[in-house]
Amino acid sequence: MTCVGIIGVGYLGECLVEGLATTKTPMVLSPRNAERVARLADRFGCEVAASNNEVVERADLIFLAARPGDIAASAQGLPWRKGQRVVSIAAGISLDSFRSAVAPALAIRAMPIAASRICKSPTAFFPDDPMAADIFNRIGTAHPFEDEAQFGTASIFGAYYALTYAFIGEASGWAETKGLKPVAARQLAARMVQAAAAVIIDSSDRSPRDLLDDLMTPGGITEEGLRVLEETQAITQWSKAMEASWEQALSIDKSD
Ligand SMILES: NC(=O)c1ccc[n+]([C@@H]2O[C@H](COP(=O)([O-])OP(=O)(O)OC[C@H]3O[C@@H](n4cnc5c(N)ncnc54)[C@H](OP(=O)(O)O)[C@@H]3O)[C@@H](O)[C@H]2O)c1
Repeated sequence: MTCVGIIGVGYLGECLVEGLATTKTPMVLSPRNAERVARLADRFGCEVAASNNEVVERADLIFLAARPGDIAASAQGLPWRKGQRVVSIAAGISLDSFRSAVAPALAIRAMPIAASRICKSPTAFFPDDPMAADIFNRIGTAHPFEDEAQFGTASIFGAYYALTYAFIGEASGWAETKGLKPVAARQLAARMVQAAAAVIIDSSDRSPRDLLDDLMTPGGITEEGLRVLEETQAITQWSKAMEASWEQALSIDKSD
């Protein structure tokens, strides 16, 4: 069984540990953030290495889960070997920025999301690799891309995922102003998005807009809501938000 190492056990590192632990994947964690890794070791039985060196010596696939500016430094000078996979999850950090630091291991970029904690992360990654795909399928679904530029675009869905919390919060907040209890409002707002997502995934040959047109009753409540969203350009603003996230990702790499 693939042994997974994690260098950088912060917020997202902890989400990866939690998800992988439910799939009984053996794990070895870097010792920094002693309190957090001790808690995770206690809860899930994963091992805490004495050093990042030991993580690399023992693991087959290693996540670099430090903050973007720390990725190359966190990998430098460790005993990488051929056959290992090194997966950076840092937003905006190109393969060129850390490939030489992890040679002769295979450098991979990926964008797992916090929902890896509950094994629901759709994870974009590049380059394709069977060991990495297996790990991503354990914590959700694996989505390989053909080149780094495509991966860069796909990685912006990591921000889009986070932005849907704001969207669901806005809708459920409106229902609360009309008297719904917060938990009931949130559950319904979130499950509606889940239901729409399930239909779209199930009908991948049809565009979301076609599916929307199918279900809209002329003169009905959806049509009226959509009129307001289109008149105020609320829908097209989503593309602008994603463009801004994409430009931010490009600037992270340039500033490094
Ligand atoms: N947050 C998300 O939802 C999300 C989603 C997808 C991808 N990402 C990516 O995941 C990465 C981590 O994000 P995060 O939100 O989890 O940040 P975070 O909570 O700050 O975690 C980063 C951790 O890495 C540790 N670290 C830094 N250098 C290290 C080293 N040389 N050895 C061992 N540990 C080291 C840091 O320790 P110190 O605090 O002591 O420096 C910190 O605990 C980022 O690159 C981000 O772009 C995050």
